[in-house]
Amino acid sequence: LNIFAIVPAAGTGSRMKSNLPKQYITINQKTVLEHTLNKLSYIKNINSITVAISPDDEFYQDLKIENPKIQTVYGGNSRAISVLNALNSLNTDTKKKPDWVLVHDAARPLVCPDDINKLINLAISKQKGGILACKVKDTIKKSVGKMQLDCVSETVSREFLWQAMTPQIFKFEQLHQALSDALTQNIDITDEASAMEWAGFEVMLVAGRSDNIKITTPEDLQLANFYLSQKKS
Ligand code: CTP
Ligand code: MG
Repeated sequence: LNIFAIVPAAGTGSRMKSNLPKQYITINQKTVLEHTLNKLSYIKNINSITVAISPDDEFYQDLKIENPKIQTVYGGNSRAISVLNALNSLNTDTKKKPDWVLVHDAARPLVCPDDINKLINLAISKQKGGILACKVKDTIKKSVGKMQLDCVSETVSREFLWQAMTPQIFKFEQLHQALSDALTQNIDITDEASAMEWAGFEVMLVAGRSDNIKITTPEDLQLANFYLSQKKS
């Protein structure tokens, strides 16, 4: 079975409010993107890793990338377009196309390799796409408006609520079709699963560790630094 990985790394990291895009910030001696690529490099079943970088990227070339399975492609103005560009680059006649594609955010360097393997094995054994996710822990409030100081309209039961994470794994042809159709029809796509759900596919929720955080704001950097320095695998 041919499993390829795609790593969207073409964002600007606006919520981090740093002068470097967050994937290039160094924590625990390596950049966020290097940590993430190292994690994926441990996974024996992944045969190729395509990193989507910005056409304006000035930093990727300075990384220490030793894995010959890693290549880059240009990303676009949204995460979904970055992933679609990477899928398009894998869909040429000259290349052997993957059976499955696993998409993982550059901004999630804490992912645990055991969880990646668990997701891959479940997808293959059940022949169904899936995502790492964790059950919502907090009490969830719905607001009457979009702003702070607006009031609560209701408390939402968290019984059925999960927080979506990455990696997300799908059959290559299905994801490629779903994502390109959804983007053509201007559907708001925030992860691969939302394109698959929109196209009518079932998406499996696979429980993953909750410390697989997406580095988004400055507080997350401190947390990630703490976790990475714990040398967990
Ligand atoms: N991403 C991408 N192409 C984009 C936007 C995002 O490849 N046009 C990538 C980011 O680099 C990141 C992942 O998608 O690894 C998750 O996105 P997010 O955390 O939202 O990152 P940014 O969009 O860079 O951050 P922000 O939304 O705060 O600007
Ligand atoms: Mg973003």
